[in-house]
Amino acid sequence: MNSTLPPSDIRVIFDRIAPVYDDLNQWLSLGQHQIWKAMTVKWAAPQAGDLGLDICCGSGDLARRLARAVAPTGQVIGVDFSEAQLAIARHRHISQSPHLPLEWILGDALRLPLESGIFDCITMGYGLRNVTDIPRSLQEIHRLLKPGAKAALLDFHQPDQALWRRFQGWYLDTIVVPLAQNYGLTDEYAYITSSLARFPLGPEQVELAYQAGFAEAIHYPIAGGMMGVLVLEKGK
Ligand SMILES: C[S@@+](CC[C@H](N)C(=O)[O-])C[C@H]1O[C@@H](n2cnc3c(N)ncnc32)[C@H](O)[C@@H]1O
Repeated sequence: MNSTLPPSDIRVIFDRIAPVYDDLNQWLSLGQHQIWKAMTVKWAAPQAGDLGLDICCGSGDLARRLARAVAPTGQVIGVDFSEAQLAIARHRHISQSPHLPLEWILGDALRLPLESGIFDCITMGYGLRNVTDIPRSLQEIHRLLKPGAKAALLDFHQPDQALWRRFQGWYLDTIVVPLAQNYGLTDEYAYITSSLARFPLGPEQVELAYQAGFAEAIHYPIAGGMMGVLVLEKGK
């Protein structure tokens, strides 16, 4: 429903981006992604000892943040379908934060090889916009959560206000794509604009979440509405 590209092409894009993804992210958000990720973890309401899941974990930044919140007695699983992203996540985990309770698995967000109803909290960073079937992905998150547990999904968003929308378009076209060009990744980053144009707005995401079975769904626009966090709660 969301992407015009088949999943195999999306995987190739993320395999190619993997080596530079974190550096570019830091530059392109001027470090702000760290604040947005901290908010996302907070909204997922992790507690020490929880079992957490980070879907579309990429190189593992959000998963490591979630792991810090459930450590030392909890556990976090990071899952992604890109081998190249997971290889970086594993390497960073072992070399930079081996004490964190993390495990990495290869898997598709649309059919995760995980037991139903076992997770206390779930996060997803810049994943929902990239999956090929958003309703299915939300159903998977609903299936995996324990009753009463929360998920928080961070992603780009198209601002309501025309001024912010123009700024976002200018920023993507004038800053993001040319910077990505220096890394030979023009097409991969131009994909952000087209995926964003197809991505449901906050209220539509909330509607899809209710259709997937969630008891509560709230979309919080952040950064002038250029980003958003969809916070979901499974019924008790
Ligand atoms: C933009 S990156 C975000 C990485 C990380 N969550 C972050 O916030 O930095 C999106 C990730 O989603 C993964 N992805 C996209 N579709 C997927 C799917 N259907 N199943 C699993 N992973 C997927 C990609 O491989 C990529 O690593």
